[in-house]
Amino acid sequence: MADAQEFQDRLLSLGLARVSEAAALASAKLIGRGDEKAADQAAVNAMRDQLNLLDIAGVVVIGEGERDEAPMLFIGEEVGTGNGPAVDIALDPLEGTTLTAKDMPNALTVIAMAPRGTLLHAPDVYMDKLAIGPGFKVDTVTLEMAPAERVRALAKAKGCAPSDITVCVLERPRHEAMIAEIRDTGAAIRLITDGDVAGVIHCAEADITGIDMYMGSGGAPEGVLAASALKCMGGQIYGRLLFRNDDERGRAAKAGITDLNRIYTRDEMVTADVIFAATGVTQGSILSGIKTEPGWITTETLLMRSKTGSVRRMIYRSPVK
Ligand code: FBP
Repeated sequence: MADAQEFQDRLLSLGLARVSEAAALASAKLIGRGDEKAADQAAVNAMRDQLNLLDIAGVVVIGEGERDEAPMLFIGEEVGTGNGPAVDIALDPLEGTTLTAKDMPNALTVIAMAPRGTLLHAPDVYMDKLAIGPGFKVDTVTLEMAPAERVRALAKAKGCAPSDITVCVLERPRHEAMIAEIRDTGAAIRLITDGDVAGVIHCAEADITGIDMYMGSGGAPEGVLAASALKCMGGQIYGRLLFRNDDERGRAAKAGITDLNRIYTRDEMVTADVIFAATGVTQGSILSGIKTEPGWITTETLLMRSKTGSVRRMIYRSPVK
């Protein structure tokens, strides 16, 4: 029989789905309107309002930024009613602000919740990331391997040719050399313009998405969110923080990080069971985007718990007021 905490986790997970749904619904009117800031702000406001209704004693560990940069959902902000379990919250009210503003695929609202002290307090710096889906031995691919080596190692583990592998990469000038090296192996590359949380999640459903591996640098906060998703879906992710200057090293110190070169595994970024929810904003390959029709608005939410490995896809249809 389920114990009290288990029951609470189950109830909280549904609450978390509402939080991510609310953020998506709030950004709906701003899809394709060319205003990243307005879209993000709408999602932030709605996510915060809903989060504060949950019976949790939550602390935002991955949020909109430092307290002096972000008035809402800043790192360290206490959220929830205060009556309930002490939890860490990692969130990105709109992952893909530009995707939303330009109505391009795979913008999501994302939130993860885990017991207090169990999510990596990743500072707002870049992280070098490498992810693959479930079913492979630990260290099948590693961050220490060169990009071409990773492709060959994964192909060997899959029992296919490197040319049968597809790698997802953020299209950035900083990735040009890596992209060239991957192409030299014969592997295909799915370039994305933004949204590496979705990029990583694609690896967990390779048969559906066609993406076997994610690599390259992106936001460290997004790395922890992606690790939370893979902890629920299976798959591995490795991340190493990247620092460009003393200000960024200072952010790490403030977050209590002393080993600046450390490579974090998925379970070192998320050390206990986690609940993860994401709602599609624009149409995507893992989630449908928000659909509007006369009188109705519909969202799709992915809701997952690592404790049970449960993966729910929830369609929510609401009358437009
Ligand atoms: P925003 O939604 O905050 O704009 O982030 C989008 C994103 O593409 C992330 O998914 C990714 O981790 C990061 O930006 C990459 O940063 P940069 O654009 O500096 O390469």
